[in-house]
Amino acid sequence: MIKFYDVKKINARYADQLKGAAEKVIDSGWYINGSRVEKFESSVKTYLRVDHAIGCGNGLDALKLILRAYKEMGVMREGDQVIVPGNTFIATALAVTHNHLRPVFVDVNYDTFLMDPDEVEKCITPSTRAIILVHLYGSVCYDDRFKKLAEKYNLVLIEDNAQAFGAKYGERMSGSLGDAAAHSFYPTKPLGCLGDGGMVTTNNTTLAFLIRLLTNYGSSRKYYHDFRGYNSRLDEIQAAFLSVKMRYIYEEFQYRQTVAFHYIREITNPKILLPKRDVGSAWHLFVVKVDKRWELKKYLEEHGVGTMIHYPLPIHKQEAYEDFDWVSLPTVERLSNEILSLPISSVITEDEVSRVIKLINEWKE
Ligand SMILES: Cc1ncc(COP(=O)(O)O)c(C=O)c1O
Repeated sequence: MIKFYDVKKINARYADQLKGAAEKVIDSGWYINGSRVEKFESSVKTYLRVDHAIGCGNGLDALKLILRAYKEMGVMREGDQVIVPGNTFIATALAVTHNHLRPVFVDVNYDTFLMDPDEVEKCITPSTRAIILVHLYGSVCYDDRFKKLAEKYNLVLIEDNAQAFGAKYGERMSGSLGDAAAHSFYPTKPLGCLGDGGMVTTNNTTLAFLIRLLTNYGSSRKYYHDFRGYNSRLDEIQAAFLSVKMRYIYEEFQYRQTVAFHYIREITNPKILLPKRDVGSAWHLFVVKVDKRWELKKYLEEHGVGTMIHYPLPIHKQEAYEDFDWVSLPTVERLSNEILSLPISSVITEDEVSRVIKLINEWKE
């Protein structure tokens, strides 16, 4: 069986180091807000070339904290609009609505799966305060035209980098391109811990200061609270795991890229539409488009290949967002019926990739 994603196998490669790191944390007797989190934050700052990195509980919290801090700064108020792509994971929208802001779901480009600046500009109104650029499947959504839009309309540019840690825009790293970025270290993400974990990065000192407080009950001094904050901190043990895995991030990135390019070079079945050969993508997911998606999924499963769908139902069609059911996003809706994610990871073997390719090329519907 070729698993869609084998997280156990990925972590098994570093098992000794991970166990060593855990043991040190256990023995230290210090489990929250300590030197391991500081060390990991500092390595992310260096890697992404940003001024501030603040660990938090998970990627959803990272997004929520950014929006909440902007509200505290007076940059946005309840009811203001935030632009998000219609085909993202639900967390992007939840962060907006949990903050009593209004998501404006935008259609995406069929070829890239990403938002396009022209389409975004059409959706900007006097109530728009921010654009959340989701680097979906590992591909960087940012381009300089988004920055120009943000300047023109005085908007905040937020990156949802949950799926793209390690991705690049030219020489710049994703997570350093907008005003603030949210990262997720969920176990299957490009940099995954062994539980939940997240981070905010930014060059904005005021924003960073506020977010740091908000992660820790809104408190700058123990038992004195400046804001009605949260408890959303990155644990010492997760930070220690992340520091181990950070050493291999580039190696893993390169391997996933090799797998992606192998698929792109050798899948020749005309029924399958392949993603573009993107040198900057973190290749978190390898998503193809195919008319008879369920048939291909079933065929691959019958031949021992695991696949997934990211995501089968757009957010505006989810029950949780039934008040957005009137929204029409033709490309997002079409994509949700055609997409299929093939296995890609730093531990899938070349033979396994060749087997997937052979099966797909032999597929006759
Ligand atoms: C695009 C996107 N944003 C946000 C999140 C939320 O991250 P987490 O699961 O760490 O809360 C995820 C992943 O789950 C995601 O894929």
